[in-house]
Amino acid sequence: MVLVTGASGRVGRAVVDLLVEAGVPVRALTHRSEAAVALPAKVEVVTGDLTVPESLDAGLRGVSVVFLVWTAPPATAPAVVERLATYARRVVFLSSPHQTPHPFFQQPNPMAMLHAVIERLIAATGLESTIIRPGMFASNAWLWWATAIRAHGVVRWPYGAAETAPVDDRDVAAVAGQTLYQDGHAGGDYVLTGPESLSQAEQVSIIGDVLRRRIKFEELSPDEFRIETEGSWPRPVVDMLLAAWAATIGTPAFISSTVFDILGSTPRSFRQWVADHATSLSG
Ligand SMILES: NC(=O)c1ccc[n+]([C@@H]2O[C@H](COP(=O)([O-])OP(=O)(O)OC[C@H]3O[C@@H](n4cnc5c(N)ncnc54)[C@H](OP(=O)(O)O)[C@@H]3O)[C@@H](O)[C@H]2O)c1
Repeated sequence: MVLVTGASGRVGRAVVDLLVEAGVPVRALTHRSEAAVALPAKVEVVTGDLTVPESLDAGLRGVSVVFLVWTAPPATAPAVVERLATYARRVVFLSSPHQTPHPFFQQPNPMAMLHAVIERLIAATGLESTIIRPGMFASNAWLWWATAIRAHGVVRWPYGAAETAPVDDRDVAAVAGQTLYQDGHAGGDYVLTGPESLSQAEQVSIIGDVLRRRIKFEELSPDEFRIETEGSWPRPVVDMLLAAWAATIGTPAFISSTVFDILGSTPRSFRQWVADHATSLSG
């Protein structure tokens, strides 16, 4: 039995489907009960909150492998990891490439620091572990730009020249799914990227191309971006992104072959991601 946390999220939701398809018994953890509605009927759904460690006990009973996604505050991480070790044999943790020596990944980043702490906690328990480290998700394009594209076709954004290698969430989920139900991934440490380095302005241009719409990229200064996101984005997230984009100017994005190595298929391109999400991008 595999327990999938973050089961209503971008990666966890796709992992649930892949495990069901592979015939693996799955239990999905959600912490808002309404999130369970979108899960397949076959899946056992349990509620639990990572900030309330004892709320996880019912979901962990009888589980041998856990897919761990952590977007909660950090305080309860030690107690939660200890609980995972009481019940499970192995954990697959959705982390980030904070050990990769590329300027994009070496900037101050509170989320990456928390990922590193959780990795150390997992190692200290002696649990078998597999660490999945995706770079920028392709689906960030939807979160960041879809509203502007639909409203007026102008993306106002900083560091248009900053390059990333957007990785399709479905490829991240496919690698995670495989490591959850196939043997041989204990100790695995996998940095996942998309297949090509693309500047943010190029990514917006690809969206325009696929949607057959003229979408303008309007460069903002970092301070203009801070002002535009004031009150709607957490300031640490804004500063983290600005630092990463600034540091990568003039350097192509880091590209790994891990998706291909594990899945045996080429990672999906950003253009493919856009084509598959064209309806929701154009509204
Ligand atoms: N975005 C990127 O480019 C990127 C790149 C590398 C790594 N990552 C990492 O990927 C992770 C996010 O994955 P994602 O995008 O798939 O997640 P997501 O779509 O943001 O969804 C978050 C999930 O976490 C669950 N959750 C939130 N608070 C919880 C709590 N207190 N207790 C239990 N569950 C809780 C939510 O459940 P409910 O729906 O029930 O609330 C939801 O399923 C983060 O660790 C992030 O740092 C992201």
